[in-house]
Amino acid sequence: MIKKVGVIGCGQMGSGIAQVCAQAGYQVVVSEVNDEFLDKGLSSIDTYLARSVQKERITQQDKDAIIGRIKGTTSMNDFGDCDIVLEAAVEDMKLKKDIFHEIDGICPQHAILATNTSCLSVTEIAAVTKRPDKILGLHFFNPVPVMRLLELIKTASTSEETVKISKEFGESLDKSVVTVQDSPGFIVNRLMTPQILNAIKMLESGIATKEDIDTGMTQGLNYPMGPLALADLIGLDTLLYIANGIHEQLKESQYIAPPLLKKMVSEGQLGRKTGKGFYEYN
Ligand SMILES: NC(=O)c1ccc[n+]([C@@H]2O[C@H](COP(=O)([O-])OP(=O)(O)OC[C@H]3O[C@@H](n4cnc5c(N)ncnc54)[C@H](O)[C@@H]3O)[C@@H](O)[C@H]2O)c1
Repeated sequence: MIKKVGVIGCGQMGSGIAQVCAQAGYQVVVSEVNDEFLDKGLSSIDTYLARSVQKERITQQDKDAIIGRIKGTTSMNDFGDCDIVLEAAVEDMKLKKDIFHEIDGICPQHAILATNTSCLSVTEIAAVTKRPDKILGLHFFNPVPVMRLLELIKTASTSEETVKISKEFGESLDKSVVTVQDSPGFIVNRLMTPQILNAIKMLESGIATKEDIDTGMTQGLNYPMGPLALADLIGLDTLLYIANGIHEQLKESQYIAPPLLKKMVSEGQLGRKTGKGFYEYN
């Protein structure tokens, strides 16, 4: 039975994952590389919940209880009594392998270790551990407290028991769980990435303005946000990692990142998280 959840990384996704787990009543320990990143992540949870109190979605008492269930740390040794660990560090295969190798040696035998990777091979990550039957992908969507979908990615080695426990865990977070075999980009990113890259290519070649491209998709297809606004929300660095990651595996030209995306990332224009991407944010 899952009682204690570990979350690795307290960035956009990790902070949201820690929050929804604590909201569902789990004890949560969330790690970051240093105190500065940890404080930033924990304060974003605090801000989100304070807004929920203001909007009367939860009470101040609920907020205090949720915050009380989240412990921040900069040491992965604190995952020693977790029943499940959800990794949400940067989208980089070497980093994820190092993390999984380390937590495999720290977590109890029964613990399930899941990655929130957007497109990397879960099979390759599982191979660095001694428990490939307990490894899978649990891919949340951004913003985690709002988006209902959770992709459950199973490898050839993931046991049925791990799938069952993880599916029930996802449902306990009020997520709608879809299951997919380990494959580049899984379901959503495999379909969504070419569309966002095409929108960037259209902007780059001057076919239309960013506003008109986004309005085309929101008003023409009833999308809640246009592809360029969505790219800003995802984070342009993460989008580039996803495009490169899928392209490396599938070798399909539709996943080649356009020069404009690479330029913006190299200039630190990463979207909402840096205040500037295709649009500007306060
Ligand atoms: N941004 C999205 O829309 C989105 C959606 C679904 C999945 N994802 C995936 O989630 C993961 C995280 O993405 P994000 O958008 O939250 O990125 P982010 O840059 O906002 O956060 C990543 C965090 O991980 C931390 N980190 C790096 N190494 C660490 C380590 N060894 N231990 C603990 N923390 C560490 C970083 O300091 C950073 O704060 C990626 O794998 C990404 O592909 C992202």
